[in-house]
Amino acid sequence: MTVFGTRPEVIKVAPVIRQLESIGVETINVSSAQHRDLIQPLIEHFDLRIDHDLDVMRPNQTLSGTSARVLNTIDPILESERPDVVLVQGDTTTALVAAQAAWNRRCPVGHIEAGLRSGDATNPFPEEMNRRLISQLATFHFAATTRNQQTLLSEGIDRNQVFVTGNPVIDALHWTLQRPRDLQDNDQIDLQAIGQRIILLTTHRRESFGDSMRANLEVMADFVSEREDVSIVFPVHPNPAVRQAAEEILGNRPRIHLFEPLAYPEFVVWMKRAWMLVSDSGGLQEEAPSLGKPLLVLRKNTERPEAVDCGATRLTDGSATKLKEELTTHYLSNEWADQVRQLENPFGDGSAAERISSALLQHAARVS
Ligand code: UD1
Ligand code: UDP
Repeated sequence: MTVFGTRPEVIKVAPVIRQLESIGVETINVSSAQHRDLIQPLIEHFDLRIDHDLDVMRPNQTLSGTSARVLNTIDPILESERPDVVLVQGDTTTALVAAQAAWNRRCPVGHIEAGLRSGDATNPFPEEMNRRLISQLATFHFAATTRNQQTLLSEGIDRNQVFVTGNPVIDALHWTLQRPRDLQDNDQIDLQAIGQRIILLTTHRRESFGDSMRANLEVMADFVSEREDVSIVFPVHPNPAVRQAAEEILGNRPRIHLFEPLAYPEFVVWMKRAWMLVSDSGGLQEEAPSLGKPLLVLRKNTERPEAVDCGATRLTDGSATKLKEELTTHYLSNEWADQVRQLENPFGDGSAAERISSALLQHAARVS
């Protein structure tokens, strides 16, 4: 049984479902629909089948509200379907609560993207705690990198239960890059005429809501207004806290394009078009090296230091002043952008789903 519900979970679980189904393993796919609006186009893009829909999305709901709905609605499904293993991905509310529900039914949990740690229990919030708790609940830990594996071993997880697989987001990216895509309305925006350097911006992390997010958006607004050859494309996350700040600070300004969230193939095209990525997203830190794009990470810390170490990403340390300095430096010199184009992706080679599925099959062979 796979359980997912937010945008990044669908992108990262899709290759695993497709791989398992391709070798004849029966999957039961449960969507919490935590992000109903964001995931619908992804379900179509990856041609997924949803067997159970928990329908937990409510506007502006609290973390506990989402948790309670997932816990209550998944339990009868676990009872009736009796899966051999429950697969969860990452660190969302859906992932943590599904893992707990499986634990309560004595069903083994497989954790995709295991072993990420920022080192600060409160940042990112609540994800860092969610990941730590899922590691306690899981039986199979699918680590993207050897660093993630080492982290799990240092926390006392059994070596035989940790598998270094790469992150299936790279599988999803490769799959998407290989597929032709239709022209979309926003392709008509003649960005070439109004600004040659496109900054693709996303932001949604809870710990930066309020002053920190507003200060970053103000820096972005000033940076563009002072340079006629720079423009911003910003697909705005549906979280109302993000929408309000985005519209107030960046709305109705020349060369700043606020979009609805983009379907994944569209977003990939904008990543390829971009001069620079600016984001607090986890997934973008993994995708950017594959596309050879420099990424400024709007965060104090990262659970993905591999990207910083290989030179693909730089942290702004959560400081608007540092963001401004970094943007100015890279506007004046192409050195960083040139380096990033040469990099190998530390998060995988596009075969993570195959490795995850063979680890699961080896386990099945041992227990049968
Ligand atoms: C969630 C995850 C976060 C992940 C992010 C990816 C948790 C605690 N957080 O954060 O780890 O990085 O997704 O995007 O699980 N909304 C809609 N339509 C949608 C999706 C969201 O309207 O399709 C609005 C709703 O008002 C919702 C709010 O956004 O209440 C916040 O969504 P929620 O899933 O609670 O948290 P995210 O901030 O999206
Ligand atoms: N993404 C997308 N459309 C958008 C913005 C992002 O398809 O408008 C993709 C992006 O390529 C990445 C994933 O969504 O694969 C990241 O999701 P998000 O930033 O919401 O979550 P996080 O990775 O931070 O948990």
